[in-house]
Amino acid sequence: MKIHVLGSAAGGGFPQWNCNCANCDGLRSGTIRASRRTQSSIALSADGGDWIVFNTSPDILQQIRAFPALQPGRRLRDTGIRAIVLIDAQIDHTTGLYMLRESSKPLDIWCTEQVRDDLRNGNPIFDILEHYCKVTWHVMPIDGSGFEIEGIGDLHFAAVPLRSKAPPYSPHRENPHPGDNVGITIRDRRTARTAFYAPGLADIEPHVWHAMRSADCVLVDGTFWTHDEMIRLGVGTKTAVEIGHLPQSGPGGMIEHLSRLPAQTRKLLIHINNTNPILDEDSLQRAELTARNIEVCHDGLDIQL
Ligand code: MLT
Ligand code: MN
Ligand code: ZN
Repeated sequence: MKIHVLGSAAGGGFPQWNCNCANCDGLRSGTIRASRRTQSSIALSADGGDWIVFNTSPDILQQIRAFPALQPGRRLRDTGIRAIVLIDAQIDHTTGLYMLRESSKPLDIWCTEQVRDDLRNGNPIFDILEHYCKVTWHVMPIDGSGFEIEGIGDLHFAAVPLRSKAPPYSPHRENPHPGDNVGITIRDRRTARTAFYAPGLADIEPHVWHAMRSADCVLVDGTFWTHDEMIRLGVGTKTAVEIGHLPQSGPGGMIEHLSRLPAQTRKLLIHINNTNPILDEDSLQRAELTARNIEVCHDGLDIQL
């Protein structure tokens, strides 16, 4: 399978429009070695023809312009996007649906019932799109049965529930339900190779560890380096876990978990917040990741599995 990173940043992108932190300022002024990043999304394909987009970011039009495989190539109105998979109902993962409203067919969207409810009630994108291209909702099971996407027979998808956070507008924000957030294992039947994608992940429960342990490649939550990053910088009042993200450093952090994976597992961080020191390619934190064979996703990264 082919994985193309459309957007590697967390909500807000990098640099964030209103942020003057060392990273955002350093990138604008050219004083640090770092690259711009759009908001959280990947595209995945078995054959390079039909693509599944995981999460639709507010930056999706820019991401499509930068990736010819998603552009119209066969008919007057056309797209390489065969279907959309949503891992949660957060703004940075769903707002791009509005940008796809010119679609000549209803958008085929796979998400859980909980995510569908948030996208019909709290943030009624699905209802608004009924006035444009419409949406065909496909229920994403989280009972381990997995799912298939018509026309993409070579790939098998299996979602697991995660502890992260429903969006601030959701009635589930402080009252979590299984299905508010998922991680997804994608398996290529032809090669038996698997990837695990979980850009929002606050707790590595045993079933999540099992999914990570079984994958050839993991793309996991790279939002924050430290648990109190936002508080220390004076840009927020909540810890990483309180907003649904396991930090990389410290006891029980993401690095500790990734270091326990088999040596041959490809390990990548994705959904990186603009405050995270790993964005500075010359930082000590980035060097620590490199020493541990952990990669930092950048926009446009191609992974062949
Ligand atoms: C998150 O990942 O915590 C959210 O997407 C933040 C946001 O709403 O931008
Ligand atoms: Mn996010
Ligand atoms: Zn910043």
